[in-house]
Amino acid sequence: MSGKWQKHDLGFLGGRRLRRSRMAGWSRDLVRENALTPADLIWPIFVIEGQNERQPVKTMPRVSRLSIDLAVEAAKAARAEGITALALFPNTDPAKRSEGGEEALNRDNLVCRALSAIKDAVPEIGLIADVALDPYTSHGHDGVMAGEEILNDETVEILTRQALVQARSGADVVAPSDMMDGRVGAIRAVLDEEGFEKTIILSYAAKYASAFYGPFREAVGSGARLKGSKLTYQMDPANAEDALREVEQDLAEGADWVMVKPGMPYLDICRLVKDSFDVPVFAYQVSGEYAMISIAAEAGAVDRDAAMAESLMAFKRAGCSGVLTYFALDMARKLNG
Ligand code: PBG
Repeated sequence: MSGKWQKHDLGFLGGRRLRRSRMAGWSRDLVRENALTPADLIWPIFVIEGQNERQPVKTMPRVSRLSIDLAVEAAKAARAEGITALALFPNTDPAKRSEGGEEALNRDNLVCRALSAIKDAVPEIGLIADVALDPYTSHGHDGVMAGEEILNDETVEILTRQALVQARSGADVVAPSDMMDGRVGAIRAVLDEEGFEKTIILSYAAKYASAFYGPFREAVGSGARLKGSKLTYQMDPANAEDALREVEQDLAEGADWVMVKPGMPYLDICRLVKDSFDVPVFAYQVSGEYAMISIAAEAGAVDRDAAMAESLMAFKRAGCSGVLTYFALDMARKLNG
């Protein structure tokens, strides 16, 4: 025979052609392994003081900090699209930031007022409050400091009271994002003692010391303040086994759900945690990931909608129950046609 291609050369396929299932839309729909719905989406919202205030976040195209009245409107829009929950982050007045982050415990602070306003107006949407001191400290760290050190046990003591204040204001879920040891157990104990045994704890269990938090820190106003790095409490990006230890410990202390953060660079960790423990796993597609996609789209490098949808489906494929994403409203709208 000449070097010409012959049909029978493909005999080794044994008749198996994986492309058959991909040939038509209906068959692709039929064999699809994972689905993304608006119910998988949690929308992080930045809140500020004022009335009818909307401040764009420079490095996050289409994301703005909202005053509480506008956050309530956002919550209504989110609910109308089937989004299940919001995660609220305050940008605290610089005058109210301090070494010890005391404003975190003020029952009338910005995030507490936002929680109760949204709970009143849109009771059907889940409300997640972040437990950590960085929006309240003058140094931008998640805990209190002595010299260069972030103190663990002293911080945990404050975080338990912060979580309680948030639960009292209407948070359905408290989400410790601080990475102190022992905080989940301490928070669970205090919530239970005070009659909040129904409040869910979503632990940021595997939270890495990441370069992808930059835009968030600008949004909450902690970035320029931050002294040093968070390497002594957040996880080393080189580690996977350490994530399993973190998750195991948080579950033993009473976490209901666990989170991996950031998202896209840590999909292997999502899958590892999902395969290792029988609990709902969430991922946070963080601000830097949002910025990468959005700014690349603005530059004409990728299609925003397609990249958004593909990146979010990846979390379902990696075993996540849901994902925190700044794309939540846009994605839900797209899913709903
Ligand atoms: C801090 C906190 C951070 C984020 C959520 N909670 C930043 C940090 O750890 O410095 C980042 C979220 C994002 O980048 O979108 N408690």
